[in-house]
Amino acid sequence: MKAITYKKYGAPQVLKLRDVERPVPKEDEVLIRVRATAVTSRDWRLRAAAFPGVFWLLGRMHTGLFRPRRKILGSDLAGEIVAVGDRVTRFKPGDRVFGYSSFGAYAEYVTMPADGALAPMPANLSFEAAAAIPFGGLTALNFLRDRAGIRDGQNVLINGASGCVGTFAVQLAKHYGARVTGVCSAGNRHLVASLGADRVIDYETEDFAESGEVYDVIFDTVGTTKFAKCRRALAPTGMHLFLCFGVTELIQALWTARRDGPKAVCGIAQDNREDLATLGRLVASGAIKPFIDRRYTLAHTAEAHFYVEQRHKRGSVVVAV
Ligand SMILES: NC(=O)c1ccc[n+]([C@@H]2O[C@H](COP(=O)([O-])OP(=O)(O)OC[C@H]3O[C@@H](n4cnc5c(N)ncnc54)[C@H](OP(=O)(O)O)[C@@H]3O)[C@@H](O)[C@H]2O)c1
Repeated sequence: MKAITYKKYGAPQVLKLRDVERPVPKEDEVLIRVRATAVTSRDWRLRAAAFPGVFWLLGRMHTGLFRPRRKILGSDLAGEIVAVGDRVTRFKPGDRVFGYSSFGAYAEYVTMPADGALAPMPANLSFEAAAAIPFGGLTALNFLRDRAGIRDGQNVLINGASGCVGTFAVQLAKHYGARVTGVCSAGNRHLVASLGADRVIDYETEDFAESGEVYDVIFDTVGTTKFAKCRRALAPTGMHLFLCFGVTELIQALWTARRDGPKAVCGIAQDNREDLATLGRLVASGAIKPFIDRRYTLAHTAEAHFYVEQRHKRGSVVVAV
């Protein structure tokens, strides 16, 4: 089968289209014919071994100290089940699914545990649209619903509202009944408003932390805000969620967890099949929708990486396989 592989960390050019062995599903796995995948911010970080600060060593220990242990990147996927292991009852050949695999989705075929983050594809959705959902959707759902416990009537700010996680965060926050402010550049104002944001702030001309507005949740999906500065923009029970964090945010999270007043919260997003199914239902009902910025073919995955690595994409970048 065709796959995009990498044998060393580095620039997008390390990604090469090669012929590799098609994987064989174990007894509790399914084999999926991948029809679309996505290039996410996780993918370019894994490709470049660009793990921030103290996470450099942890990241390399996870992915391979000197060279990548897993040669095929790609986590978001949509496609069809073509074979199932002997113990699998949840899926059958022909099922259309979307999911989040740790690795391996930049390929024509991938195997996944049948009880992994895999769910039936919402009806009437293209493979490309379905592949644009898992990474951003799961992360936004995990942070807003599970970590922040977002509630009806809350005042929520999403920093990086035009990115992959941000576009889902704006829509999910609206779905849960919040009043939403999105922060992005002027060029993305219309996009963020169209996703349902009640107010949009251009970060080049206005500093939201200085405006006097108070938020129940500040969700920073970019890593450009500081807890010390944003405290004054948080309600006494408010939460400042960090997707990108270092030692400072970790210490602030530990410190504020034990005290009254606004909390700093950081962590790694979780993925599971229930949350994916929840996202599938929300998309099917029209409550949220994936936003696709650009489309590439598998042979042009390196170009997609180059674009995504600029960190100014809008929503998701998908790859037809
Ligand atoms: N902790 C976790 O478990 C976890 C999970 C998922 C992602 N992450 C991390 O979270 C980050 C975001 O992921 P993503 O996939 O959403 O990234 P992304 O799609 O690449 O985000 C790009 C967006 O960031 C916006 N942006 C850039 N500079 C900004 C600024 N100064 N202020 C506000 N917005 C700005 C851009 O908007 P403009 O073009 O308008 O500037 C662009 O739309 C990545 O670093 C990723 O590694 C962490």
